[in-house]
Amino acid sequence: MEQRKALTTTKMRKMKQDGVPITMITAYDYPSARLAEEAGIDVILVGDSLGNVVDGYDSTLPVTMDDMVYHTRAAVRGASRTFIVADMPFLTYHGSLDATLKGVARLMQEGGAKAVKLEGGAEIAATVKAITEAGVPVVGHLGLTPQSVHQLGGFRVQGRSSEQAEKLLSDAKAIEAAGAFAIVLELVTDELAAWISKQLAIPTIGIGSGVQCDGQVLVYHDLLQYGSDSAPRKFVKAYANIGETIRAGIGEYVKEVKSRAFPSPDHSFHMDNDVVQYLYGDKEE
Ligand code: KIV
Repeated sequence: MEQRKALTTTKMRKMKQDGVPITMITAYDYPSARLAEEAGIDVILVGDSLGNVVDGYDSTLPVTMDDMVYHTRAAVRGASRTFIVADMPFLTYHGSLDATLKGVARLMQEGGAKAVKLEGGAEIAATVKAITEAGVPVVGHLGLTPQSVHQLGGFRVQGRSSEQAEKLLSDAKAIEAAGAFAIVLELVTDELAAWISKQLAIPTIGIGSGVQCDGQVLVYHDLLQYGSDSAPRKFVKAYANIGETIRAGIGEYVKEVKSRAFPSPDHSFHMDNDVVQYLYGDKEE
């Protein structure tokens, strides 16, 4: 069977031109990345959403560069033939350019990412430009930017008013002009996401931003209902409920250990009778 090759930024732009949607999913470790690759995903995002869905924080703010490097390395080991993007965590790209590039270098050299993602608009365009000029592909992230959740006043849909729409469009153009090869649009109204997607030559990847984006991204744990009891949010479609499967499986294991149904003889190893005899001798009942 022919080994598939990882997508390139050029191929993603061509997919946009040809109207072929780009599929992206988050993954944070070896098995999740491996399964995503085997399922044929185009791009894996090692998102700082791992702070929520893996580490149990209520935001992405506590996620560190060490966390991102650790998880990126694991995901890359699981999906070496997939284009993997890693998030730059909270406030790691707002200081000196030198410090920013050191973080980028860690994600690429230690983590093995092929690209980095940064949240923000025109205010970070100079940083995006410097990173791309250093030879690193960048994905932008606009709309609901979770690292600014406290400034945005919560997880709200963005781009409902004409002012917000103008601002988002000009931010998208600034990030494109700075050299980004794609932009994630999170929780942006359908109409605005479609409008921005038409105005840009680079692909938009939507989450909660309607079907007219050039691609879609969902969080692994949301898509598979893994580890969350809450009903999926409006923009999430749950394609499986592995949380339920896992809970049921562990429940069965607990029951069988308590009742000594597990391990059965099939799951056990045996020694020769003469050794049993030697060990137990007369004591054997
Ligand atoms: O961190 C993340 O998973 C993301 C996606 C929600 C796009 O940024």
